Amino acid sequence: MPLDVSRPDLSLAVIGAGVMGRGIAQIAVQAGIRVLLHDSRPGAAREAKDAVSAQLRRLEEKGRIGREESERAQANLAIADSLPALAGCPIVIEAIVENPDVKRELFRSLEAIVAEDCLLASNTSSLSITAIASACKRPERVGGFHFFNPVPLMKVVEVVDGLLTAAWVGEALTALALRCGHRPVRAKDTPGFIVNHAGRGYGTEALRILGEGIAEFHDIDRILRDCAGFRLGPFELLDLTGLDVSHPVMESIYRQYYEEPRYRPSPLTGQRVAAGLLGRKSGRGFYGHADGKQEDVPEPPAPTARPASVWVSPVELGAKLTELLRKLGAHIDRGARPAAQSLCLVAPLGHDATTVAIEEELDPARTVAVDCLFGTDRRRTLMTTPVTTPAMCAAAQGLLSSDGVPVTVIRDSPGFVTQRVIAQIVNIACDIAQQRIASPADIDTAVALGLGYPQGPLAWGDAIGASRILAVLEALLSFYGDPRYRSSPWLRRRALLGVSLLTTET
Ligand code: NAI
Repeated sequence: MPLDVSRPDLSLAVIGAGVMGRGIAQIAVQAGIRVLLHDSRPGAAREAKDAVSAQLRRLEEKGRIGREESERAQANLAIADSLPALAGCPIVIEAIVENPDVKRELFRSLEAIVAEDCLLASNTSSLSITAIASACKRPERVGGFHFFNPVPLMKVVEVVDGLLTAAWVGEALTALALRCGHRPVRAKDTPGFIVNHAGRGYGTEALRILGEGIAEFHDIDRILRDCAGFRLGPFELLDLTGLDVSHPVMESIYRQYYEEPRYRPSPLTGQRVAAGLLGRKSGRGFYGHADGKQEDVPEPPAPTARPASVWVSPVELGAKLTELLRKLGAHIDRGARPAAQSLCLVAPLGHDATTVAIEEELDPARTVAVDCLFGTDRRRTLMTTPVTTPAMCAAAQGLLSSDGVPVTVIRDSPGFVTQRVIAQIVNIACDIAQQRIASPADIDTAVALGLGYPQGPLAWGDAIGASRILAVLEALLSFYGDPRYRSSPWLRRRALLGVSLLTTET
């Protein structure tokens, strides 16, 4: 008999009354579900019930919910002092400490208490649902129900199928999520599920760029915010989450995928954890933090120098660069080869400035690269070769910032900052699709809602062009020889076929 989660008299239990348990209880009672809240620490469930009531009253004061709804929701929340008090619940959602042994022990005890057909769900973010379910006599009734913090605001939940999870479990959790006003996405039981797996590209590639000495952390943040549209730069995000949390997650996903080079963490973070530079919570991370506020790193003023003339390479994204320079009123050298004094501007796709200068037989001392793959209205990224003269660099910087748009100069890098970070994000998302961990549509929804990226990674790859993403990765792979940059078969095939990255197999 399938579990009917639309019943008006539905009840469920939430075990673990911490940050997540409270949030899950709140959205459930607001959806008209009766919730029994249990915590092993005496008094914890009562504190949580009071906190949820206070939160509902705040929503009522702000006019977000009506008084009747608030009172009904508050009345729906009850405390269970012991596990046996949960015996009659058809659904139990566990949100206790992230410890596999403790979770397994809880699930084992629960099976002796609840009904045969009771659904057992875990809110774990990093543990295997299959491994938790292995403690149960009926592992098919166990599924993952992974919410994000803060639960009432983060409107997505991963419904995770363990290896032995029965179909009705995923279906019931999907329907339950919808009843609670959340967007369910279905994921297979794999390390990081969708969101924490897809999130590997951003921070690790940014750390790699920092570790290689290409740019300062605050410049990487500025570029990714202004040019790619991320709300927070990767280092701001690491500071906000705290390296004590992010560093072990990076290591754990890398290890669980048996040292998959795409997820390889950076030696920089372990050292920073050892030094106590955790982020906002410790007062200092990559940025300084005073009274919970991130300290600003001032931007250097733009140079006033201008080049006598500019020669623009037509290859790769040269057309976009020429268009930008026209708008800036630059004096363009139209010769087939650059005149002796001309600044040589190139717009590579995945290549570094040095490689382009050598391949096009340009003077590397006069060559500067401009990133034209992304928007250039809010910030422009320039990149020098190791021998570009300071005068040529200043002239390029002065010209490209002459309309008031800030310019960031980085050292040579295949794919600048933005091209390589976005290529990694798209490639990892493609591989999640390739492994059939989730549907392409669910991958995009999960990432857009769970990570707050400007778009889902597959749609983003389409907007940029799958063949361009592939070109960036191939240039990175050829430059570094690091399999970290090998393209996913999902990406390569769709780029070759010229079809959307959201295309599933016929
Ligand atoms: P928390 O530390 O705020 O709360 C955990 C609660 O569980 C505590 O009140 C503790 O007393 C209780 N507890 C511990 N062992 C118990 C047991 N055997 N029986 C009953 N209660 C027990 O933890 P938080 O952050 O709410 O996390 C809970 C779960 O949710 C973990 O599995 C975590 O990985 C997962 N999660 C956490 C997210 C977050 O951002 N905090 C996001 C998504 C998932």
